[in-house]
Amino acid sequence: MRIDIISAVPDLLQSPLNHSIVKRAQDKQIVEIVLHNLHEYGLGQYHQIDDAPFGGGAGMVMMIEPIAACIRKLQAERVYDEIIYTTPDGKTFNQQTANALSLKKNIIILCGHYKGIDERIRQLFITQEISIGDYVLSGGELAAAVMTDAIVRLLPQVLSDETSALSDSFQDNLLAPPVFTRPAEYEGLAVPTILLSGNHAKIAEWRDEQSITRTQERRPDLLEGLL
Ligand code: ADE
Repeated sequence: MRIDIISAVPDLLQSPLNHSIVKRAQDKQIVEIVLHNLHEYGLGQYHQIDDAPFGGGAGMVMMIEPIAACIRKLQAERVYDEIIYTTPDGKTFNQQTANALSLKKNIIILCGHYKGIDERIRQLFITQEISIGDYVLSGGELAAAVMTDAIVRLLPQVLSDETSALSDSFQDNLLAPPVFTRPAEYEGLAVPTILLSGNHAKIAEWRDEQSITRTQERRPDLLEGLL
């Protein structure tokens, strides 16, 4: 899979994309993640990428030309399955969206900034508008990093134990069960004895029950229409 991320502040993405699982996936060439600095496509001597909004008002708007030039250059090189714009007015990202995007071959993520992008970019190029939650970030970079992480960990061969993505919370609309490691007792708090029993069938059953109980208590909305 290839993910191209277009941003006015690509440095914001460096750390999240170059550590841990996402880094390992790139090292193993399971995913290629390419950052594009929008300023390289800016207009004129000052590489301008934003301008004041028509009609007045506070804040700057990202201009069409630099974004169009970057997207068109990429489109000339390969076919993209999705061109995603990160924006608080998009559809809320969830595990289902991550699963669907992990099946794509090439995607572009365009990070919004300032007061947003010229509406015509959405009309001309964008195939999906995605928000990572009902709050406003200073830019779309952290949203792009969140989405990329959630997508990449689902790609085959990324996680050493392939079943571990399957047992993530949300993968089957259930939250993950509690987990424990050594010591078996800490300040009077003991690990549930079933986990020390070595009986794998019973342990699996216990974990399923815990998942359901935890979901009922914390996120009953996930269970609607399921049980
Ligand atoms: N840009 C600013 N806020 C955002 C959000 N909540 N999700 C995605 N992109 C954003």
